[in-house]
Amino acid sequence: MHAMADEEVSPDASDLMEKVVGLCKRRGLIFQSAEIYGGFRSTYDYGPLGVNLLRNVKNAWWMSMVQCRDDVVGLDAAILSPPAVWAASGHLATFTDPLVDCMKCHQRWREDKIDGVCPSCGSREFTEARAFNLMFKTHAGPLEDEGAVAYLRPETAQGMFTNFANVLQTTRMKPPFGIAQVGKSFRNEITPQNFVFRTREFEQMEMEYFVPPAEAATWFDYWLAQRFQWYLDLGIPEDRLRLRHHETSELSHYSSATADVEFLFPWGWDELEGVANRGEFDLQAHAAASGEKLEYYDQSTNERYVPHVIEPAAGATRTMMAFLLAAYHEDEVGGEARTVLRLHPRLAPYQVGVLPLSKKDTLEPLAREVLTSLQPHFLCDYDTTQSIGKRYRRQDEVGTPWCVTVDFDSLEDRAVTVRDRDTTEQVRVPIDSLVAELRRRLDAS
Ligand code: GAP
Repeated sequence: MHAMADEEVSPDASDLMEKVVGLCKRRGLIFQSAEIYGGFRSTYDYGPLGVNLLRNVKNAWWMSMVQCRDDVVGLDAAILSPPAVWAASGHLATFTDPLVDCMKCHQRWREDKIDGVCPSCGSREFTEARAFNLMFKTHAGPLEDEGAVAYLRPETAQGMFTNFANVLQTTRMKPPFGIAQVGKSFRNEITPQNFVFRTREFEQMEMEYFVPPAEAATWFDYWLAQRFQWYLDLGIPEDRLRLRHHETSELSHYSSATADVEFLFPWGWDELEGVANRGEFDLQAHAAASGEKLEYYDQSTNERYVPHVIEPAAGATRTMMAFLLAAYHEDEVGGEARTVLRLHPRLAPYQVGVLPLSKKDTLEPLAREVLTSLQPHFLCDYDTTQSIGKRYRRQDEVGTPWCVTVDFDSLEDRAVTVRDRDTTEQVRVPIDSLVAELRRRLDAS
């Protein structure tokens, strides 16, 4: 029979961060980059389990934003781009943070993040703030002259604007429609912090939704509601998620309205995603700078206009961290403490753990047969080491929602035991219907 998980203990906020960071390292989710050389500040590598989780986050976004819609198409634009793009977008002139130097210890800080006190030495004396551009500048080709300057994109969004006419010409899209992209962005953050929350290299999931100007406000509300619901559907508890509308003084250079989806991180409420009404700013700016017409001609009304843009812009790596923090729990099963990640089954690094009850060779062929039947359908782990109890704990700790145990009875009845991560309930399932049963559970989650 099964034991129910009991006695939930929630680590307090300060412990939580330390515990999740420790788990990420210990179980191969996230490693410090170039660790064998002492590490490279603010860059991280996603290990065998982390790459699955991050990919699942991005896939869940793509599923909801592209695959399940007929009004959004995808794009994968280049990361390297010429200065002309960033001059037109306004990033060369305004994508800056206020940089100050502490007069006493000479550390550099972002002025708006330190409340006038040096976090390193406590001094209150700083240099005048100067605008520090966050873009990474490099040179394309063998000549390092001004003509070879290129930038690593600080957002994926501009790829959607520079390809607006290409997409219009090559698809049957007409406003309202969107172009979506997932990929790396780079910002030379002055103070990267809080693990993968703010890093210099990160991944974004962005969509530019082009609408008739009169419909912009309605679509802004629509996308705000859609995006908020996405986090709830994937298991972020309602009391750790909120919407915050920006004050006029906070708005980016391109935005006429912005609201953030915020998550309650261990240090307080902070941004997961921004939804912005960018108006006609970007298409106008690129049309003016490039000389190309970036507008839509509506044959039915004989009208030509520059669509307005609503942009939901999320961080994949930051969102992955929020899912980990929300999923981390400690409880007791049968009087024994365990750590469990209650990740949504679609996000879990492994959906199924296949565990032969004993290491004896007699179980191996059937266990491997079960594993290969599941692998085309689910992300699977195969674990034969240590006791079954220890292996369950190991899978719980990384959020595997179902463990399939092959035992000696399985050789006779061709059935296996399926154990549920959250309830620890165990049921016997015929091997022939295992894929269908796990698929049913995944679809119902
Ligand atoms: N295209 C609009 C745009 O880039 P943003 O608010 O600057 O807007 C969108 O970025 C999202 O990208 C943020 O909500 C955050 O999740 C993520 N993001 C931005 N800077 C980041 C950084 N340095 N490290 C990790 N994620 C970051």
